[in-house]
Amino acid sequence: MKKIIITIDGPAASGKEKIAKFISKKWKLNHLDSGILYRRLALNFLTNDVDIDNVYQIKKKLNTINNISFRNSLRIRTQKISKLASKIAVYDCVRSFVNKLQHNYVKKNKKKQGFVIDGRDIGSVVFKNADLKLYIEVNPEIRAKRRYKQLIDSGEKSIYPKILKEIKLRDRLDKIRKHSPLIVPKGAYIIDNSGTFKNTIGQIAKLLRKI
Ligand code: DC
Repeated sequence: MKKIIITIDGPAASGKEKIAKFISKKWKLNHLDSGILYRRLALNFLTNDVDIDNVYQIKKKLNTINNISFRNSLRIRTQKISKLASKIAVYDCVRSFVNKLQHNYVKKNKKKQGFVIDGRDIGSVVFKNADLKLYIEVNPEIRAKRRYKQLIDSGEKSIYPKILKEIKLRDRLDKIRKHSPLIVPKGAYIIDNSGTFKNTIGQIAKLLRKI
């Protein structure tokens, strides 16, 4: 049986992860969050004192890495790692490394009926021939408000204007980079996630019935 692939792209804090998790559970698909791989590499470079402005050091380090964990963890969810991940994601060598990991993951994990993969370039570059491509859209102010609430609810100190500024900066880094910038992939359906989650899922369920 053919394994289906659903891609979810969109800017930082647009809700891709929550949507991907929901789809994964409801339709029994493997979920792969490609952002985790960029974050894991950022943490690796940070702990090994790799100068992230020096592409030669980065390439040298990549040659020594055999395995990267696909697991999420609080250590890779800090603001520092978020910023570092955006910075290293501009390098072609980093993107090729991460893309290979994703293709190997799909090749090896054949048990479930398919995959839902989220990131910034999944439908445009990594899995161009996906069965369904989604692009999640939410304006930066709503994204910042949601992230602010999340942080406050979890007991962290947070300042809304600072979060908004950081989200806009990450959008800029993601959209202006030379290699695989964040775009609406060809053939992708744009999903408006500014309303309720129920509304968002309703839009997606209609599309899923078609495939
Ligand atoms: O989705 P996230 O916030 O966990 O991603 C962290 C960073 O990794 C993000 O700022 C940009 C980069 N990234 C990317 O360039 N391409 C992807 N497919 C996924 C993430």
